[in-house]
Amino acid sequence: LENGLMRTPPMGWLAWERFRCDTDCLMDPDNCISEHLFMEMADRLSEDGWRELGYVYINIDDCWSSMQRDSQGRLQADPKRFPRGIAHLAQYVHDRGLKLGIYGDMGTHTCGGYPGTTLDKIETDAQTFADWGVDMLKLDGCYSNSSYQEQGYPMMSKALNATGRPIGYSCSWPAYQGGLPPKVNYTLLAQICNLWRNYGDIQDSWDSVLNVVDWFFNNQDVLQPVAGPGQWNDPDMLIIGDFGLSMDQSRAQMALWAIMAAPLFMSNDLRTISNGARAILQNKLLIGINQDRLGIQGRRLIKEKSGIEVFWRPLDKGASALVFLSRRSDMPHLYKTSLKELSYKTGVYEAYDVFSERLLPQLKDSTEFGVSVNPSGVVMWYIYPVAEWKKEAGP
Ligand code: DGJ
Repeated sequence: LENGLMRTPPMGWLAWERFRCDTDCLMDPDNCISEHLFMEMADRLSEDGWRELGYVYINIDDCWSSMQRDSQGRLQADPKRFPRGIAHLAQYVHDRGLKLGIYGDMGTHTCGGYPGTTLDKIETDAQTFADWGVDMLKLDGCYSNSSYQEQGYPMMSKALNATGRPIGYSCSWPAYQGGLPPKVNYTLLAQICNLWRNYGDIQDSWDSVLNVVDWFFNNQDVLQPVAGPGQWNDPDMLIIGDFGLSMDQSRAQMALWAIMAAPLFMSNDLRTISNGARAILQNKLLIGINQDRLGIQGRRLIKEKSGIEVFWRPLDKGASALVFLSRRSDMPHLYKTSLKELSYKTGVYEAYDVFSERLLPQLKDSTEFGVSVNPSGVVMWYIYPVAEWKKEAGP
């Protein structure tokens, strides 16, 4: 969507995967969906180095609203859990240099059973969000059908634009239509949405990450060409810092999301996150790769060869990123290949290991090399051609 927003994949924090529809503020006051939770996460984003790295959106998901619209038919926040309302929360977030995202549903109800946005309410809801100072909308698609969505998603895009407030627009539409043509029209989606959920929900497990990865790369011929500045495929939230992933698996999720030019929305508890998970999520080079200005989505080059897969993404200034992923479960595997085998042009290259933060010896395209990849882990390189073969560094 050419609304000037999200020229690189949006980054931030989204409540859903980690905090779901916990509305029990009596028994679980620190984890229930409430203004308290979002204010605490906003504090963490702004005080713990996240904002400076680009994690600026703080996004509400389902279960934030009251079960009833107000007397004028407008959505309203649950009065107990958001006593000061969404406008106040938006102000709090803006005061910290962050942006606020909200959630709605193109249907009669949200997936959690809260009021949805029916066709007759689209303009009202867009205006309400704009009046509150909201910066992004995720529009879910429960309690709906395909003809309803076909009308509603484009209408909301127009309505948001008509408010005059820049509001990033995340559409769950394709995820409800199987994610593939001919049912899904990606040309249209790219015109009306800034990002879109193509596939099912991520859960807190490595199995779930692999399931998402497989779907996106198995369908890369369809998905890869539609991504670009202002229009992104969304493989769903980062679950790094939660309970399901080892450190190696966490590096793998981060690396593959960077290859996919995916939005980086963490869904974790920033109040208690471990230093290890934080370091992965705050890796500057990795974020730089995700945020590359060309916005070209990467591809899988090699599909499972002795349990290893290779992924590649072209980057600005002739550079590229390579990811070696191991699906094995025995021990670190020494994968042997050459840049030529990975379709690199003739030349000499220098590579920087994104996680070990080491510069590797220069490589000719034809040189065979080995990378040691941990079980369910990755090795990731940032790689660029060097003008001249530095003789002292060569093999
Ligand atoms: C389905 C979406 O795909 C999830 O990300 C989340 O928003 C839930 N609905 C909320 O009910």
